[in-house]
Amino acid sequence: MQIHDKTFLPFLSESEIQEKVQSIAKQLNTEYENKEVILISVLNGAFIFTADLMRHLAFQPEVQFAKVSTYGNAMNSTQKIREVWGLENLSIEGKDVLIVEDIIDTGFTADFLRAEIQKHRPASLSFVTLLFKPDAFQGQYPPEYMGFSIPTEFVVGYGLDYAQKGRELREILVYHP
Ligand code: IMP
Ligand code: MG
Repeated sequence: MQIHDKTFLPFLSESEIQEKVQSIAKQLNTEYENKEVILISVLNGAFIFTADLMRHLAFQPEVQFAKVSTYGNAMNSTQKIREVWGLENLSIEGKDVLIVEDIIDTGFTADFLRAEIQKHRPASLSFVTLLFKPDAFQGQYPPEYMGFSIPTEFVVGYGLDYAQKGRELREILVYHP
């Protein structure tokens, strides 16, 4: 499939993704049963994963949104924060916070978010990410819950974009150079 000027090939199918979402939800249901949970969905990419994941949860989380964008061109993570939104007035003190991410690549964004959210003194703070690139990861804390561990390649679909396109795809595609 062509998106902008680039070609992408099938990588994770809709059913593989949906099965994984259900298995992550199962883990969370065991871990967070009877807790007061706040899900913080990290925009833009995590909105689809968050929506699917939530609907398999057996507890009743409060849902909030935050946005962190980094500088950079369409395919590389540049490790400079450009925009932060939604972290100012969080009332999460004493609550169990679960940050929902679409992908953790270098881990820069996740480390930044963890430090910012920790300032609001939650009872616990964990990350759940659908995708994780272990070979690119240079962060301090790997995610507590993870869907797929993937190679250091550029992927789109299921919320993830290439220059703002491709988020609507039900499957995940990989860039074919
Ligand atoms: P970080 O390098 O872990 O800070 O990731 C920064 C951001 O880059 C992520 O939140 C995504 O928005 C984006 N990103 C990283 N890898 C990919 C990819 O393969 N496809 C689409 N976006 C990506
Ligand atoms: Mg992006």
